Parts: sequence; C-alpha cells; structure tokens
Amino acid sequence: MDKYIVVGNPINHSKSPFIHTLFARQTCQNMEYLSQLVALDGFVAAMDTFFSSGGKGCNITVPFKEQAFEYATQLTQRAQLAGAVNTLKCLDDGGILGDNTDGEGLVQDLLQQHVSLKNKRILLIGAGGAARGVILPLLAQQPQTLIISNRTLTKAQQLAALFAEYGDIKALAFDALGEQCFDVIINSTSASLSGNVPAVPASVIGQHTCCYDMVYGSSITPFNQWAQQHNASKTIDGLGMLVGQAAESFMLWRGLRPGAKQVQRELRRLLQ
Ligand code: ATR
Repeated sequence: MDKYIVVGNPINHSKSPFIHTLFARQTCQNMEYLSQLVALDGFVAAMDTFFSSGGKGCNITVPFKEQAFEYATQLTQRAQLAGAVNTLKCLDDGGILGDNTDGEGLVQDLLQQHVSLKNKRILLIGAGGAARGVILPLLAQQPQTLIISNRTLTKAQQLAALFAEYGDIKALAFDALGEQCFDVIINSTSASLSGNVPAVPASVIGQHTCCYDMVYGSSITPFNQWAQQHNASKTIDGLGMLVGQAAESFMLWRGLRPGAKQVQRELRRLLQ
C-alpha cells in the first residue's frame, strides 16, 4: 500500500488524514495517509527515514515549510516563488519534488464558490508566508490589479517587487487604501487567530465585494464578521482552501482530481 504522511509540530489538530482518507475512498486508491509529530530539530531525519522506507509523498505544515523547501531536490515554479513547500513527492529517479498547493487551493475554492478573479480588483491583506504562498496563483487568474496591503508596509513592498513580473501588483499601506473598493478582499493575516481585525478602512468593501478569510473555525471569523457588518455581498472562510490545497496535493501524487464538495461538507459538520 502506498504511504503518505503529514508532518508538523504540533500535528494533532491536522485535518489532512481525514481529508485524504476520504479522497482515497472516493477515488478507489490503495493508499494510507497518517500524521506524524516531528521534533523541532528532527525534520531532515524524519524525511530521510520516510522516503528511504518507500514513502510516496508528504504534506508539511507549521513550522517545517521552509525546511521542506530546502529538502526538495526539485521545485515547482509556484513553490520556488512561495519560498515554502507544503507537498513533497518522491520521483521515479529518487529525487524529491517540492510543491506549494496553498494558492491553487484558494483559487479553486473561490472559483467553485462562483467568485471570478479575471479582470477583478483584488485586495490581499497581510504579507507573511500565507500571503506569499497565494500570490502567483492569484496573478495567474489575470486580475485587473492585485493590491497587497500590510500593517508593516515594507513587507508588502518586498512581495510586490518579487512578483512584479507576473502581473499588475502594487503595495499600499492600510491608510493609503483611501476610498477605493475591491471586488475580492482576502485576509491572509493571523489577526483573526487572536480575535483581531486588520485596521483597513471599511470603504474597501463595496456592494459587490466578496471577503475571504484564510482562517476558519466553528463560528464566523472576526474578519468575516467585520465584513458582514459593512455589508459585504459574500463572506467565505478558509475551510474550502484547506480542502482545495489537499486536493491539489492528491492530484500531484495520484494524477486524479478528487471531489472537494462532499469532503468540505463533512469537515464542516465535524467543526460544529
Ligand atoms: P503567516 O505565515 O501565517 O503569514 P507571518 O509570516 O507571521 O504568518 O505573518 C503574519 C501576517 O499577519 C503579517 O502580515 C502580519 O503583519 P505584520 O507584517 O505587520 O506583522 C499580520 N498580522 C498579524 N496580526 C495582525 C493584526 N492584529 N493586524 C494586522 N495585521 C496582522
């Protein structure tokens, strides 16, 4: 049976074994997918052991995504630009391919929820690892513009410069967003995790704006609550992105695209 794992520290919270087990059942794949806690200084040893014993692929979560980037012997372009890897795949020649499926997971979730991105004005809030991981897939959808705004402006400017050749991308401070409103607003900050909302002006939300929080939970996230208070037309949390990134990893490993909707419904039920 083909073996897959997700590694992280902590790892107990990971929904990946649940998601991939459902994907495997859905697509009749003979595979096992387990989680493994890895010591903070034990990533390389854990990967060496896993792949030398025939492991086929691995998902990587906090805090090992940058180490996984270093561990890979080949990188996809999106992983290269993300600077982080969430998926490793053992290649036929023994090499290890590193990919980053987070951004495509976000894009697929938006498209499935009928939020189009082509020629749209997108605001991406935050400039940490989560933002960096989604910029290339967002630009690949050919938005009219992608504004990246962050509490610390210099970090947004660095990301805008890094991705400048891939599309129309600019950095703006929160207080420079002015009166312009956006079609899609994506919150990639960790603010929701501490019950906060980034200090962007509410004028960024117009009548037709869809707001997306990469975070999810059993109740509405603080950012999406704020968006609803300011009459956003739609709010979405990051559960679909979680399932979407998993589906992209599964696709890379097995060459089959699993259905995300049923798995997302079951996960939502688990959260209640
Ligand atoms: P991640 O890998 O999850 O993106 P990170 O690299 O630590 O984590 O980045 C966290 C992001 O959330 C940053 O953009 C951070 O803003 P700063 O660069 O100014 O620190 C943002 N963030 C966290 N808490 C925030 C808050 N209360 N308001 C606004 N932005 C916040």
